[in-house]
Amino acid sequence: MYRADSSVPIAAPLSVPGLRKLKAQGQRIVCMTAYDASFAQVMDAAGIDVVLVGDSLGMVVQGHASTLPVTVDQMVYHSAAVARGLRRAVLMADMPFQSYATPQRALETAARLQAEGGAALVKLEGAGHVLDSIAFLTARDIPVCAHLGLTPQSVQKLGGYRVQGREAESAVRLREDARRVAEAGADLLVLECVPAALAAEISAELVIPTIGIGAGVRCDGQVLVMHDLLGVTSGKRPRFVKDFLAGAGTVEAAFLAYAEAVRLGSFPADEHSFL
Ligand code: KIV
Repeated sequence: MYRADSSVPIAAPLSVPGLRKLKAQGQRIVCMTAYDASFAQVMDAAGIDVVLVGDSLGMVVQGHASTLPVTVDQMVYHSAAVARGLRRAVLMADMPFQSYATPQRALETAARLQAEGGAALVKLEGAGHVLDSIAFLTARDIPVCAHLGLTPQSVQKLGGYRVQGREAESAVRLREDARRVAEAGADLLVLECVPAALAAEISAELVIPTIGIGAGVRCDGQVLVMHDLLGVTSGKRPRFVKDFLAGAGTVEAAFLAYAEAVRLGSFPADEHSFL
């Protein structure tokens, strides 16, 4: 059960610029999703660096078939709950579907996620016209995480949840998009379902940290959806998922095992990557 407890001493809070320092020092960044204060508090105590309030909440919490029905109000509500559980980790919140379709809309959404939701940075999917929103937000001192590769909000356009960047042409496009989001001012880049070699090249090229999910071990960090990490995956388990609760025994031990495996580079292994 969640209980606010200010008596426990903690390590100094991490910051968005601190994440870039971790990359420069060669320390891998540990990220996972949370949707409420109780789990967030356990993650924080386990030393998770970045806690993402993902719009995956539409699927794993609300039971929808995609992330598209998630609203800004819902993201603000869950972010604020997660923020109450955190003392050290950086809180990142997803901008929901079409909530950043124009720079002005992006600013309104991001301002709510920061001011009401307590997020340190906001995440949005894609490049193209989204570059304008990234530049607009970062010029106003709102840190942004870009998200490329498999972008779940584009599932209708992509025709399903598939690995991206396998063909030469799409690999070139992905590398260019990665360069462009960094130039537009993004502070972080999530790469989802991208061949490991391509993700490694992008990570080596960029100064900003990359956080992989199904993108191999040579990203600068790793993210998993909390439910997947705890073995609560409905239907076919994606290749990049590992159940850390099996063998760990408790949720706390599972989060600690995940953090250690990411930092040591033993997760993701080849069996969790697209080679
Ligand atoms: O919504 C989410 O949980 C995400 C992660 C899978 C990166 O975007």
